[in-house]
Amino acid sequence: MSTSSALQGKTALIVGGAGGIGKAIGAAYVNEGARVVLADRNGEAAERAAEEIGAVTGVTIDVANEDSVKVAVADALTALGSIDILVNSAGIATQSSVADMDLAMWSETIAVDLTGVFLVTHHVLPDMLARGSGRIINIASQLGIKGGHSLAHYCAAKAGVIGFTKSLALEVAEAGVLVNAISPGPIDTPMVEAIDEEWKKAKRKELPLGRFGKPEEVAPTAVLLASDPGGNLYVGANLGPNSGDVMP
Ligand SMILES: NC(=O)c1ccc[n+]([C@@H]2O[C@H](COP(=O)([O-])OP(=O)(O)OC[C@H]3O[C@@H](n4cnc5c(N)ncnc54)[C@H](O)[C@@H]3O)[C@@H](O)[C@H]2O)c1
Repeated sequence: MSTSSALQGKTALIVGGAGGIGKAIGAAYVNEGARVVLADRNGEAAERAAEEIGAVTGVTIDVANEDSVKVAVADALTALGSIDILVNSAGIATQSSVADMDLAMWSETIAVDLTGVFLVTHHVLPDMLARGSGRIINIASQLGIKGGHSLAHYCAAKAGVIGFTKSLALEVAEAGVLVNAISPGPIDTPMVEAIDEEWKKAKRKELPLGRFGKPEEVAPTAVLLASDPGGNLYVGANLGPNSGDVMP
């Protein structure tokens, strides 16, 4: 049951919706009255997550594959009728020095973390433009601003997402579609759990807040950007719930 109604009557597609941040955003949107579809490469996990948070359904998507993106967006449109809010939260992160990184590792990261944002947006946007309204929220990263050791591929992709967001925002704001990014700091999700403990200990020390965030602490920023009137004046913004990691 909804406890508040900032997104009452709205529909949302959350890509990467089986993951820590995507699922938390989905849960917050459902809680605010939205009808939500979760899409993820792991379709079964998306279905389980959808059931858990009270979303309409979960669908399979591989954001790096255009055919898969087309099918998933069509499935979401069938389930929701239209898509008012798109959240691009799918992502992968591996670690390597540039000297040791082969082209396959570089290309996979760019394909999922950057080209994936383009592909999903490209296939959702026409419906938003035709209706003269929409919100697109891209989950970038503070590392796209400050860089990160052994993460050149990931940081390049995330910096690309920020540039893509700002450029698309300029293109479509007048048509009623608002495009913004969120750049979280380290958040306790499976992506960060996979990183070695030593790195995490050092990173916590570096943060003014002294701790990593929780997915539920990122979700309210995504509610703000999606809501009316709270999100109405954000065009190409890059909001940073990041424990103080970057203060641009
Ligand atoms: N956790 C953090 O510290 C942090 C910080 C900044 C930014 N981010 C970004 O937030 C987003 C969500 O990450 P998370 O922390 O929730 O991690 P997560 O690993 O929990 O979630 C990522 C989700 O993306 C899905 N995914 C991976 N490749 C995919 C593909 N090709 N097609 C479709 N789905 C795919 C995974 O199955 C997973 O469910 C990512 O873009 C990540 O880069 C995370």
